[in-house]
Amino acid sequence: MIYLDNSATTFPKPKSVINAVSEAMQKYSANPGRSGHNLSLKSAHQVFTCREAVCRLFNIDDESKVIFTSGCTQSLNTVIKGVLKPGDHCVISSLEHNSVLRPLEKLKSKNISYSVADVYPNDNDKTLDSFRQCINEKTKLIVCTHASNVFGIKLPVERICALAHSYGILFCLDAAQSAGVLKIDIGENYFDYVCCAGHKGLYGPMGVGLLIINTDCLPDTLFEGGTGSESQNYSQPLFTPDRYESGTLNIPGICGLKKGVEFVLNRGLDTIFMHEMNLVRYLYGELNRNDKITLYTDMPSPFMSAPVLSFSVDNMNSEKVAAYLNKNNIAVRAGLHCSPLAHKYMGTIDEGVVRISPSVFTTQNDIKTLVFALNKLKFMGY
Ligand code: ALA
Repeated sequence: MIYLDNSATTFPKPKSVINAVSEAMQKYSANPGRSGHNLSLKSAHQVFTCREAVCRLFNIDDESKVIFTSGCTQSLNTVIKGVLKPGDHCVISSLEHNSVLRPLEKLKSKNISYSVADVYPNDNDKTLDSFRQCINEKTKLIVCTHASNVFGIKLPVERICALAHSYGILFCLDAAQSAGVLKIDIGENYFDYVCCAGHKGLYGPMGVGLLIINTDCLPDTLFEGGTGSESQNYSQPLFTPDRYESGTLNIPGICGLKKGVEFVLNRGLDTIFMHEMNLVRYLYGELNRNDKITLYTDMPSPFMSAPVLSFSVDNMNSEKVAAYLNKNNIAVRAGLHCSPLAHKYMGTIDEGVVRISPSVFTTQNDIKTLVFALNKLKFMGY
């Protein structure tokens, strides 16, 4: 199978990740931070070394800023629901995922409002202006994706973060698509919150994610429970990471994630990014020659894009194209990609698009096979 759905989850996983998950079940299957016996201490050590690896990747100065969650969705919900209070206002981009949009829709019943700032591909000044125009005296938080999970359009997040801070507004980066692919320097840019999936560009297993809190403004908790710390206290601890890590941690997931992060560090972010970027640029050039195919962006560029490319085939619903490719052993995602805002913005909300997302394991031959299959469609009456 040729797997080109790495924006949904990366596949295959590095061998080191698979081995670490299995090893965790055999060697570290104790509850970390709960007991003083050796197995519990070993398990806690694994958790700590994963936090250290995450700090190295994102240039974080303190391991207690790294919080394990079940995934990016939980991380985003924690920030959005934990920071915003009745009367507050939030600004998001026109390319946000449902994991940002739906929590905000839910909060409308609590008198929390939001505005959507249009993104202008290839014009970061204009994008920044549109964020500025959405800010009002009630704005408390800006939540913004690093790059569209559908169209690969990269947002000027460092500048948007600086804009937020100049108004005393908190900034949350949705790094679901970018962690492990695009550079995220938390030390330098002072993003207040960064939310990541563990199972995408960080090559970890499903069921583990990251919330990095880089500010003193601690969100309210989504849930409370045992943390193994301050057990005499009836209330949730105030300090991180314990405040947000109630219940038994996903040790196999965390051990796998650690190896995934180390895999990214060893390969090098730039190498991974350029490999994937060259593949989507090659694909763009090939698809551009097929008059039955519509592309929605300019040629992806290392400065303005993440390595994700979407297209549609004339007169063919995107799900039909994906089903055809599936029959040819090529796995892609079609439809709306949980991002109705992005599709509305691009005018593709009715038919959706076909999305291609490579990983470090994708080869040029994989892309050539895809192009061949798409070119064949032409002669099949579509
Ligand atoms: N958010 C994931 C995607 O874009 C699941 O496919």
